[in-house]
Amino acid sequence: MDVNELYRLAKEWTLEAGTNLRQAVVQEVEVEYKTSAADLVTQKDKEIERFFSKKIKEAFPDHFLLGEEGVSEGQSAYDPQKETVWLVDPIDGTTNFVHNKRNFSISVGVYHEGEPLVGIIYDVMSDEMFHVLIGNGLYVNETRVEPLGEEKTYEQALIAMNHLWLAPNDYLAEQPLQQMVQEIRGFRCIGSAALELAYVAVGRFEAAIFNGLGPWDFGAASVLLQEQGVKFTTVSGDPVNVFKHSSVLTATKTLHGTIQSRYIELK
Ligand code: IPD
Ligand code: CA
Ligand code: CA
Ligand code: CA
Repeated sequence: MDVNELYRLAKEWTLEAGTNLRQAVVQEVEVEYKTSAADLVTQKDKEIERFFSKKIKEAFPDHFLLGEEGVSEGQSAYDPQKETVWLVDPIDGTTNFVHNKRNFSISVGVYHEGEPLVGIIYDVMSDEMFHVLIGNGLYVNETRVEPLGEEKTYEQALIAMNHLWLAPNDYLAEQPLQQMVQEIRGFRCIGSAALELAYVAVGRFEAAIFNGLGPWDFGAASVLLQEQGVKFTTVSGDPVNVFKHSSVLTATKTLHGTIQSRYIELK
């Protein structure tokens, strides 16, 4: 497999999908509920995932696709540790796509025999692509991102979280994160986990804590974070299996330890 060609194609397809979505924000889109009125899917989520499925099948017929909308559900069973797998979220932040028409992304992660190869997160409306071919540096569009500088303390930290931490959940005994948001500099919830994780990789946020993500949400981000040497674990501090659902914590080294020991009191 020519990995440079795979990287080039993955970026090209992502840009093409992004152009499609940029045009779609000014059109009427069909919105359906999945599990509830807070869990949306549009015909664009499915169309973009089908687009990736078709492109991957044509260019790399022996690769597998794991996407949020399950357009490849008919594919044969496979062992991700022995295959090349594309983890694709066609729209990460569908609610933003439907409501405010910005702050949504396309997330594409490629793994070969379980090892990270390529990670791409594309902020469609800002036309900002975060991308990595493993070992070759993290780029934002054409600009190489410097290694992260001196670590910030948690008093200086901007930390992203999703709203699910505010509700009773399977992980936290109490609500220690309430204390955390009073002690840190700022808390953010953009509504696209992939984008928020990319922001940690480039140093725009110092940490992110997400409840209940799937392989398509963090498949690309995990590659970006690894390339930058940023710690990315489950909230319990274990390595993330990117092919399974997980609640995750990413942060620069010391901050990761502080957040975990001070605030994440697992049930
Ligand atoms: C969602 C977004 C959101 C996060 C949710 C995800 P979707 O993805 O990333 O920020 O809080 O947990 O499911 O459904 O818009 O692709
Ligand atoms: Ca969704
Ligand atoms: Ca998602
Ligand atoms: Ca999605």
